[in-house]
Amino acid sequence: MDATTPILAFESLSVGYGDEPIVRDFTAAIPAGSITTIIGPNGAGKSTLLKAVYGVNKHFGGNLIFEGRAIERLAPRERLALGIGFVPQGRCNFPLMTVRENLDLGAFTLRGPAIATAMERALGMFPLLKAKLNVLAGNLSGGEQQILETAMVLESSPKLLLLDEPSLGLSPANQDQIFETIADLRRHGLTVLVVEQNAHGALQISDTGIVMELGRLFMTGPAAQIISDPRIHVAYLGGAPA
Ligand SMILES: Nc1ncnc2c1ncn2[C@@H]1O[C@H](COP(=O)(O)OP(=O)(O)OP(=O)(O)O)[C@@H](O)[C@H]1O
Ligand SMILES: [Mg+2]
Repeated sequence: MDATTPILAFESLSVGYGDEPIVRDFTAAIPAGSITTIIGPNGAGKSTLLKAVYGVNKHFGGNLIFEGRAIERLAPRERLALGIGFVPQGRCNFPLMTVRENLDLGAFTLRGPAIATAMERALGMFPLLKAKLNVLAGNLSGGEQQILETAMVLESSPKLLLLDEPSLGLSPANQDQIFETIADLRRHGLTVLVVEQNAHGALQISDTGIVMELGRLFMTGPAAQIISDPRIHVAYLGGAPA
């Protein structure tokens, strides 16, 4: 694998549930160290595509290549072990447990001293959690809960982080905090693939944009180009480009 090999490549991938593929013939490459945002209307298959990278839905055809290796038949825990971390859509941490207890759970794949190291690294990345270790997760703000979710997944030291709608339901200030956090993750060397309804906020911190419609790739290109594309502006960014 050389420096130009993408960390993740979708090669004519078709995935879905039951008898039907939802995402069809999807091809795209994600460069290492980049932030890529996927946008598209409700039901376009964005979450389905992200779940396919983690392996929690059904494979119908094509390949998924992670660091040069086909992974489409691997179980989620095998993908986690290879360095793929997934934060699903919606809050799912444990509201009646403290931040510390949630972080303990995030380290479930680790043993021995690696647990304390992972916790320290997570707290180093997100110092605001350090001050709230004994607070119940349910009493954190929406933005803080999303950061806790992300910290839990980061404890397993992923190389590729999959985030599904991290800013959904958050106040504008909390949304900004989440986007700053994602930009920080790239500075720590992670590759981030994010699905977002706040297309503008996410594309602003992204290298690349992917637009999905009806289960297919509709458009991809540099994030700045997607932001200024008139069709995308009308559909997702509230009117004509400035
Ligand atoms: N577990 C499932 N079983 C069967 N069909 C599903 C399942 N999850 C999603 N779907 C269907 O797959 C299609 C795409 O859903 P998906 O959640 O991927 O869309 P999305 O682009 O993430 O939408 P949103 O923006 O609303 O989150 C929808 O028609 C949905 O009903
Ligand atoms: Mg979704």
